[in-house]
Amino acid sequence: MLVLEEVHKTYHMGETEVHALRGVDLTIEDESFVVVMGPSGSGKSTLMHLVGCLDTPTKGHVIYDGADLGALSSRQRANYRADQVGFVFQKFNLVGTLTALENVELPLLLQDAPAGVARDKAAHALESVGLKSRMKHRPSKLSGGEQQRVAIARALVNEPRWILADEPTGNLDTTTGEYILGLLEGFVGEDRSVMLVTHNPEIAKIADVLVEICDGQIESLTKKSVKQVVTS
Ligand SMILES: Nc1ncnc2c1ncn2[C@@H]1O[C@H](COP(=O)(O)OP(=O)(O)OP(=O)(O)O)[C@@H](O)[C@H]1O
Ligand SMILES: [Mg+2]
Repeated sequence: MLVLEEVHKTYHMGETEVHALRGVDLTIEDESFVVVMGPSGSGKSTLMHLVGCLDTPTKGHVIYDGADLGALSSRQRANYRADQVGFVFQKFNLVGTLTALENVELPLLLQDAPAGVARDKAAHALESVGLKSRMKHRPSKLSGGEQQRVAIARALVNEPRWILADEPTGNLDTTTGEYILGLLEGFVGEDRSVMLVTHNPEIAKIADVLVEICDGQIESLTKKSVKQVVTS
């Protein structure tokens, strides 16, 4: 379970302070498909960075499975990022000089996985996103949708519990975007969750939890209710 308690994030830009998050309270059960929406500058990416342990709150707590992420040492934070989360970004962020396979292997090799193990896992992850035949291609030789699938394979390869996706379909056409979305949706379950930032209201419809942020605060929180069968 993920719990945010009175989370504030303030950035200091010289003399000015930017209050990116202003008292966010949120509880997310495991195995959730969480969609975060809100205007530009409302704090969506900031929220995602805190959940992914890329940053720490200025005030308040981000607690994952009972552990306060803000209290972890830098080594523990790095381990959390490596073991528990996979990131997917709008601009794919692949290494241009590496093949698809090498890009996906990278997180494993950075964790000192044996080369053979890294290769097998990376190949398997690429296969799971339908890119078996593109493993030797460099990003420039892949379409946008294929590049995003490589990025998803890279996020999956560590078998994380969270996929954090910041506008993953923002640069893709509708059909390709729907395919990518289907892949992310399929990831949810068996102790795995997705948090996805989007501007697309259609995507909000498939969320288990819809978080709408405005001006650094949660404006509305919608949780899909579990259907209950009442027997008399
Ligand atoms: N590293 C930073 N330093 C200073 N200010 C920042 C930093 N990152 C974000 N901000 C500011 O914090 C606020 C929230 O930014 P954030 O990136 O979370 O918004 P967002 O909802 O993701 O917007 P977008 O939809 O444009 O991606 C903005 O006013 C932004 O300018
Ligand atoms: Mg953003």
